[in-house]
Amino acid sequence: MTQTADVIIVGGGVIGCAIAYALAEKGTEVTVLERDRIGAHASSAAAGMLGAQVEMSFPGPMLDLCLQSRERYPLWQHRLLEQTGLDIELREEGILRLARTEEEVKALQERENWQHRYGLNASWIEGEALSLSEPSLSREWLGGLHISGDGQVLAPRLVQALAQGVRVNGGSIEEGVDVHDVVTKGRRATAVETNRGTFYGEMLVLSGGVWLSSLLSRLGMSLSVSPVKGESIALRPQRPLFQRTLFGSEGVYLVPKRDGRVLVGATEKPGDTRPGVTAAGAAWLLQEAIRLVPALKEAEWIDAWSGFRPRTADGLPVLGPLSAWNNVFVAGGHFRNGILLAPATGEGMAAWILGEKVPEWEAFSPERFQKVAISEQGGGRP
Ligand code: GLY
Repeated sequence: MTQTADVIIVGGGVIGCAIAYALAEKGTEVTVLERDRIGAHASSAAAGMLGAQVEMSFPGPMLDLCLQSRERYPLWQHRLLEQTGLDIELREEGILRLARTEEEVKALQERENWQHRYGLNASWIEGEALSLSEPSLSREWLGGLHISGDGQVLAPRLVQALAQGVRVNGGSIEEGVDVHDVVTKGRRATAVETNRGTFYGEMLVLSGGVWLSSLLSRLGMSLSVSPVKGESIALRPQRPLFQRTLFGSEGVYLVPKRDGRVLVGATEKPGDTRPGVTAAGAAWLLQEAIRLVPALKEAEWIDAWSGFRPRTADGLPVLGPLSAWNNVFVAGGHFRNGILLAPATGEGMAAWILGEKVPEWEAFSPERFQKVAISEQGGGRP
């Protein structure tokens, strides 16, 4: 059987599926090859925060991309629901980032200032106003920055909706397909070899999360994308305690879901490649969750899981074509922001692949690490 498509995408996480969805919507024949199940890894482990402002410590191209992506979510929610019947549960109640020490207060107020200068909404709340606005919060917290534009979605549902969106728009999602090799001719990748035979494509997109490095090495490119493990837990309080996402000072966040669960994320463990959740990881998340909202002591324990965030050397994603090849694109390394960045990545990459528009993504060029390596060695100079 000949297996062909206009575009072959290797990797069926949220990024691969978002690109495939954006391409399929434009009538492109696209096939996604996923080694396991769609969204089986980092994408479904995510709590689904859309933390464009809450996660960024300074302005720049990454903040711009995050804001642009966050803006696309209402439309994506609407279109996905219409086309697939799946509701990604977009909630736009905002995120409250909290401070426990005077130092943290200062840092968050500085963040409020630069975000205002940047034209963004962010409002500082403290004292009585804080207790009134978030009654379940422990009195230990000195204040919080309310970011009304940030929100959340149900991450596992998002990946399923995108995959279904690909199918209803004529694309194909192939699970259990392990890519062994890339077949090349001159400066083109013509096919990929897999455990299910050869898949031929006019264009190839590599979006393999933490596996991106090994895929790229098959095309002679070395790029480090390392796993940063994150552990999360889920609790179910007897009644809803808060509506918006609460983000504590140790990086622990509480994301309330429509079904009554509160997702508590996440540890950050670079270099830990063991799957699963340690007792210490779960204990720390519980302790920090209860420090935020003491009533969570009474919540029912539901679940614990882990995932691996794909991190590049500078923490920014890699997006764009590979200059050594005429028809190969890369999209990966989204680290803590894969869910948030899915719409902008999907739409921007689709437009680029189809030759409609080159996004202004210099900061995310896959070649940027090569340039640094060459200039550090003094290479390329007369
Ligand atoms: N985006 C939150 C995290 O990666 O933990």
